[in-house]
Amino acid sequence: MWMPITLLGICGSMRRGSLNRALLVAVGETLPEGATLRQWDSLDLPIFSTDLEDPPAVVALKRAIAEADGVVFAVPEYNYSIPGGLKNAIDWISNPPAKSPLRGKPCAIIGAASGMSGTIRAQAHMRQILLYSDSPVLSQPEILVARAYERFDAEGRLIDTVTREWLTKFGAALVRYIERHAPRTS
Ligand code: FNR
Repeated sequence: MWMPITLLGICGSMRRGSLNRALLVAVGETLPEGATLRQWDSLDLPIFSTDLEDPPAVVALKRAIAEADGVVFAVPEYNYSIPGGLKNAIDWISNPPAKSPLRGKPCAIIGAASGMSGTIRAQAHMRQILLYSDSPVLSQPEILVARAYERFDAEGRLIDTVTREWLTKFGAALVRYIERHAPRTS
């Protein structure tokens, strides 16, 4: 029986005008029919400590992940790794480890960078981080958007047809991947 697929998009950048947020918007535009992407607003969270109770924003984020069929992380590269705010959010989400909503949740990683590497090092770190929650992570196609400022206009709209074609393939592959891996929630 056909069922819709809902994705949660989490952008690792807090920046206004983030290229990675724009990339997530473009993912939402290129998904196959029946699949939708909700973009998470902000990762503005206190620094994680097991001394603290989950703040309301963490409770809401955990619930949104649990309710989604899959999660797409848009990962900027800072200092050859993922942004500290994104790692902090994952630390919150992963506690307690046995109850992490990322456990077994199909995930995908994409990234846009102003430089030539296209976030390849940050994506490799992100893939390693998701090992702890035993999250299945889509391998192909990789979305590594280099010189990203050339591919979006001033309003953050994707203007590069090659990137759009890759995102279309990515969306189709991700939906197939979720069909194979997910205990579906919707
Ligand atoms: C960067 N940038 C960057 N780019 C890269 O390819 N590898 C890197 O290691 C870094 N490191 C880095 C550190 C710091 C402190 C800044 C401010 C920037 C450039 C980065 O990819 C670029 O600013 C992106 O546009 C950031 O993503 P958003 O915010 O546009 O989504």
